[in-house]
Amino acid sequence: MSRKKIVIVGAGGVARELRWLIHEINQVADAYDVAGFVASDSKSLPDAGEPDLLGDYAWLERHRGEIDCVTIGIGSPSVRRRVSDELRQILPGAEFPPLVHPSVTYDRSTGRVDEGVILAAGVQGTVNLELQAFALVGVGCTLGHEARIGRWSTLNPRATVSGGVEIGDEVLVGSNALVLQYLSVGGGATIGAGAVVTRDVAGGTTVVGVPARPHRRPSE
Ligand SMILES: CC(C)(COP(=O)(O)OP(=O)(O)OC[C@H]1O[C@@H](n2cnc3c(N)ncnc32)[C@H](O)[C@@H]1OP(=O)(O)O)[C@@H](O)C(=O)NCCC(=O)NCCS
Repeated sequence: MSRKKIVIVGAGGVARELRWLIHEINQVADAYDVAGFVASDSKSLPDAGEPDLLGDYAWLERHRGEIDCVTIGIGSPSVRRRVSDELRQILPGAEFPPLVHPSVTYDRSTGRVDEGVILAAGVQGTVNLELQAFALVGVGCTLGHEARIGRWSTLNPRATVSGGVEIGDEVLVGSNALVLQYLSVGGGATIGAGAVVTRDVAGGTTVVGVPARPHRRPSE
């Protein structure tokens, strides 16, 4: 089977991590040729000197016939949502393959992993997982039985989502945070790094601390 040509949209740290993830997948599956990075807008172009930087959306429009698939290397849930919508317009029919590091463990016979999902190195999951489109699960996260992660949500490194937890769309779970079993986290919520969530979290709110409490910025 020939390799598919993949473009990474994003040009920062998460994009570079995805380039490495794809190289790791290729060690076992020889699946992709990485064309390079495309910045989601010209303002976010990084310093010249990144050899794999191709350009911005104008580059994608010029080369759409040559691209088989796309992945989004951007950590922010809301930006990932916007970019996924934009890419569907620019590249109708492009594939957004789930990218799963070879070290990831979960029960593939009961798990659901939708398009555009990224599972980074060392993710450990168990049974009946549901990972909805464009969810990004960072290095070393843990996902318990029946955990559901909504579209465009990001779990930063080593977050733990316990059994039966439902995470809505566009949620950010900070590094090392822990969500206890059977809780739900509403869409657009943010869980601070290191928080221990012991109650349901309302959509659009931010919680921090142990146990997690609503976060107020100093000006509030
Ligand atoms: C919770 C969070 C979203 C708050 O962001 P913010 O509103 O910009 O917060 P600020 O940096 O302005 O800090 C405001 C206050 O909250 C405190 N605070 C910030 N993050 C906190 C956290 N995770 N836990 C406890 N307190 C926190 C700060 O110490 C500060 O307290 P002070 O006013 O007493 O000095 C953010 O700090 C966070 O944890 N994001 C997750 C980031 C992450 O996972 N990074 C790893 C990437 S790999």
